[in-house]
Amino acid sequence: MAESVKIVRTVRDLRKVTAKWRKAGKTVALVPTMGALHAGHISLVRLAKKKADKAVVSIFVNPTQFAPHEDLARYPRDEAGDLEKLAKVGADLVWSPSVEEMYPEGTSTRIEAGSAAADLEGAFRPHHFGGVATVCCKLFNQVTPDFAIFGEKDYQQLAVLRQMVRDLDMPLKLVAAPISREKDGLALSSRNAYLTEAERAIAPALYAAVSAVARKVASGTPIEAATSEARAELTAAGFQKIDYIEVRDAETLVMAAGSGKSFRVLAAVWLGKTRLIDNVAV
Ligand code: PAF
Repeated sequence: MAESVKIVRTVRDLRKVTAKWRKAGKTVALVPTMGALHAGHISLVRLAKKKADKAVVSIFVNPTQFAPHEDLARYPRDEAGDLEKLAKVGADLVWSPSVEEMYPEGTSTRIEAGSAAADLEGAFRPHHFGGVATVCCKLFNQVTPDFAIFGEKDYQQLAVLRQMVRDLDMPLKLVAAPISREKDGLALSSRNAYLTEAERAIAPALYAAVSAVARKVASGTPIEAATSEARAELTAAGFQKIDYIEVRDAETLVMAAGSGKSFRVLAAVWLGKTRLIDNVAV
């Protein structure tokens, strides 16, 4: 049986561990998560272990990145299951603060996310990236990692955080990991647990649609035509609402234009009460 993984819940205890590591010349990689860990998260921990001497996983369901009408209260939580998985993969430390430890009374400073947050998710979830950037800034200051590992599933999040690290001269390197998918193409997400059996059967059509747009755009179909065909396909598959399906510059996320650049197809759709996002490279 795997040994249990060490967990700390206060900044003070966290610093005691990381200070020892630093003194011993160890490098540190952080995997920020909101828990309810799946195989995608575990692959990020494996990457963290390759990148640095010590792998820290944070588990914190961050209230500041949810709007009042969003799913904070029902967001899946499974600390015992998470700790078991993290022990098995060999994480060195779990950083799991309470909301009061992360945001002590009187906390009022916030990061304002940069231009990469302006639309797509930002248009539908206007406070989301400010909350993500603020908690990641705090996590980076608390853990002081050499590397922070993020999945490409939240592609815009990665762009926003890259911009923050660059703009604010944060002394760490962000590492992007490819999306982990089910056999039928559905991107792994803690929110997949919300899907009913019927919705789960429809869900892979999102990956099929973004992949079709990528193929069509790569072979010369105008973006507008490729995305409107995808909208029709998604609606026919049973998605009730399409927040967006867009082709953007892969780095800046501005509208895709010109040649010789990398593009990314990004989409957000609704299946019943569940909002799914996905993206692929063109
Ligand atoms: O991607 C997530 O799980 C969250 O947005 C993050 C980066 C852990 C910040 O709360």
